[in-house]
Amino acid sequence: MTRRNFIESTGASYAALMAWGLLRPAPAGAFNLPANGTRDGKARKVIILGAGLAGLTTAYELGKLGYDCTVLEARSRSGGRVWTVRGGTKETELGGSGQVCRFGEGLYFNGGAARIPHNHELTLHYCRELGVPLEIFNGANEAAFLYNDGGTGPLANRRMRISEYHNDLRGYTSELLAKALDQSALDQQLTREDVEKLIDFLKNEGDLNTGRLYKGTSRRGYKTAPGAGAVPGELNDPYGLTDLLRSGFMQPVFHNVGDYTYEQQATLLQPVGGMDAIPKAFEKKLAGKILFNAPVKELRKTETGVRVVYRKDGKTVETTAEFCVCTLPLPILKKLESDLSPMVRRAADFIPYMKTGKIGLQFKRRFWEEDDHIYGGISRTNMDINQIWYPSFGFMGKKGVLIGYYNFYSRAEAVGELPPAGREKLALEQGGKIHPQYGQEFDNAFSLAWHKIPHNEGGWALYDEPVRRKYYPALLEPDGNIYFAGEHTTYLTAWMAGAFHSARRTVEAIHSRVGEYTKK
Ligand code: ALA
Repeated sequence: MTRRNFIESTGASYAALMAWGLLRPAPAGAFNLPANGTRDGKARKVIILGAGLAGLTTAYELGKLGYDCTVLEARSRSGGRVWTVRGGTKETELGGSGQVCRFGEGLYFNGGAARIPHNHELTLHYCRELGVPLEIFNGANEAAFLYNDGGTGPLANRRMRISEYHNDLRGYTSELLAKALDQSALDQQLTREDVEKLIDFLKNEGDLNTGRLYKGTSRRGYKTAPGAGAVPGELNDPYGLTDLLRSGFMQPVFHNVGDYTYEQQATLLQPVGGMDAIPKAFEKKLAGKILFNAPVKELRKTETGVRVVYRKDGKTVETTAEFCVCTLPLPILKKLESDLSPMVRRAADFIPYMKTGKIGLQFKRRFWEEDDHIYGGISRTNMDINQIWYPSFGFMGKKGVLIGYYNFYSRAEAVGELPPAGREKLALEQGGKIHPQYGQEFDNAFSLAWHKIPHNEGGWALYDEPVRRKYYPALLEPDGNIYFAGEHTTYLTAWMAGAFHSARRTVEAIHSRVGEYTKK
């Protein structure tokens, strides 16, 4: 008798099986709903549109419960906006010419999702459950640069280490506050003892001297580094406060610094070998359930469920199911032939999406490591390239790929309008102001503009308060037997965690509707 036969013949409960040691305990955080996705002894059929993370997770979790899921995916790959670009990757943007990536062996960049915050528990949970190995993604690197292009004053049009900017400003603001405290300015709120403690904090925060003045600090780096024998190290002078205030670095484009943003604070993680390790791990669990190169053409409601029309191998195919989980991004959903409700159509029409782009630049030499001591992290500028991301893997290797721009809104739109060669030129010219080594060391490039990528046509859903109020609720309820999932159905837009949370929410909703589970 096999273990399965034994379990089936005894009708043993889950708890009993666990107690007898016949079931491996589910990992902490696993989705444990009572399993019975069947009707009259047959698995209930669900069609899932899109093999991005929301679709994959829905199929995986519903599959565990006994549902019969088919995932229709327009592309030849899974992952959606979880897309790792490496040698051989091909893409043709809407209205654009095709690109083929020519990166060397082992080099890549994550064209979409590229970092996992330590506080996104569900994302980390699925990496754990599926056995996806992770490594550190270095987001906040004080050794990276700031560059304000086109400004005036001594600190414009030159690169500055983030450590210099941060520590100088911490120093001066601490000094000023310490002075204000000394003048009893805050006497009404604080006791003398409180003030002394606050001054102790400021002395440490700003690295003030015993006279409570900011005169520079080793935290911002050295002119000559300390060494052996008679080499104590020589500090750089701090920049002047007014120079800093007039530097242009207070523009919003320089905000979004790692330490200040909840999702960007250390520790951040990434899968070893590329973000697509996550969808690939799901694919292994969903063998035979994903139909690739199967773009959806029509989505219809029927008396008993749904009818979906898609293309496959040059033919039009029709299939029916009891439920559909639609994870198509809204710019795609809005163009789909369907009988979705007017409320859902309005949501698809009016929820805007972020325009955003990236370019991967392969260099012959990792000069950012060798010359500039930058290992991972992000430089920021007000130029169109906006951000340069240094790879958090393959340190000390021969060649390297960095992300030469990561931009948003009008910067992404302007750069995305250029053909690949124009984007490359712009990335090299602007990035070359920060890294003069660019010209000499450049190898090849691969760029993308998410708003022009077929099957996405946008980065992520962009909600503000009125848009959230007016359109979001329509996506949270099923439209007949059609459910919606994806980052756009969450408060975690632009994050993989949104896809995961939305999938679980949808699985719960379907399972509770068929009466197998009562939602708490
Ligand atoms: N979550 C996206 C990022 O990490 C937007 O940049």
